Amino acid sequence: MTEKEAILKRHSVRSYEGKEIEDEKVKLIEAKIDELNLEGNLNFKFVKDAGKTYNKFFNVVSGLGTAPSVIACVGKDTKDLDMRVGYYGEKLVLFLQTLGLNTCWTGTFNKKNIDVNVKDDESLVIAIAVGYGKDQGRARKSKTLEQVTAGKKDMPDWFKEGVEMALLAPTAINQQKFTIKLNDDESVEFIDNGGVLSQVDLGIVKCHFEIGAGKKF
Ligand SMILES: Cc1cc2nc3c(=O)[nH]c(=O)nc-3n(C[C@H](O)[C@H](O)[C@H](O)COP(=O)(O)O)c2cc1C
Repeated sequence: MTEKEAILKRHSVRSYEGKEIEDEKVKLIEAKIDELNLEGNLNFKFVKDAGKTYNKFFNVVSGLGTAPSVIACVGKDTKDLDMRVGYYGEKLVLFLQTLGLNTCWTGTFNKKNIDVNVKDDESLVIAIAVGYGKDQGRARKSKTLEQVTAGKKDMPDWFKEGVEMALLAPTAINQQKFTIKLNDDESVEFIDNGGVLSQVDLGIVKCHFEIGAGKKF
C-alpha cells in the first residue's frame, strides 16, 4: 500500500478490538519510530499497553478507552515542535495504516497515565491511539479546494493533487483551519488560521500535501 492509498483508506477510529498488536508488527513500528525520531529530532515512543491513558470521561464515551496501544508524541521544546509532531506523526499514522492498523490522533487524554518519561527540556504534545479497529471509520464532511486555497488562480495539477490529499488530513475537531497559498513563482505557503492544536494540524496537512503533489516543500 502506498502512502497515497493509505491516505484514501484512513479515517479516525475510536473503537478497537481486544486484540493486541503482534510482536513482529511492534518491531516494525519501533523501527519506523526510530527513523522518524532521527529525521524530525523527536522522541516519540510506542507504548504497547495504553493502560489508563484514555480513562477521561470523553475518551471513555467516544470508545477510545478500548485502544490497546498508544504513541506518545514527545519532543524537545522548540518553536516548531507542534508542527514537527504533526508532520512526522502523520507519516507514522500512514505507516500504521499500511500495516492494517487503525489510529486516532488525540489531544484529549490523561497525560499522567501514559507510560512515558518526558525530560525537563521536552514536551508531551499529543497521543495517537493505535490498534485493530472494530471498523475502518467513515468519511466525514470536508471543506472544498476553493475554501482552503489562496494566491495564483491558475493552479498546476500537482498543486490541486496536493490540496486534494490535504483535504483528507485529520485535523482537531475537523476544523480544517488552514490555507494553502500558491505564489506566482509556484512556491507554496502553509498558513495557520488558528484553532486548537492548529500547528499540529498544519504539520499533518503539509505531510498530506507533499504526498499528493509528489514533492517536498
Ligand atoms: C491534532 C488533533 C487532535 C485530535 N484530538 C482528538 C481527540 O481528543 N479526541 C477525538 O476523539 N478525536 C480527536 N482528533 C480526531 C479528529 O476529530 C478527526 O481527525 C477529524 O474529525 C477528522 O476525521 P478523520 O480523521 O476521520 O478524517 C484529533 C485530530 C487531530 C489532528
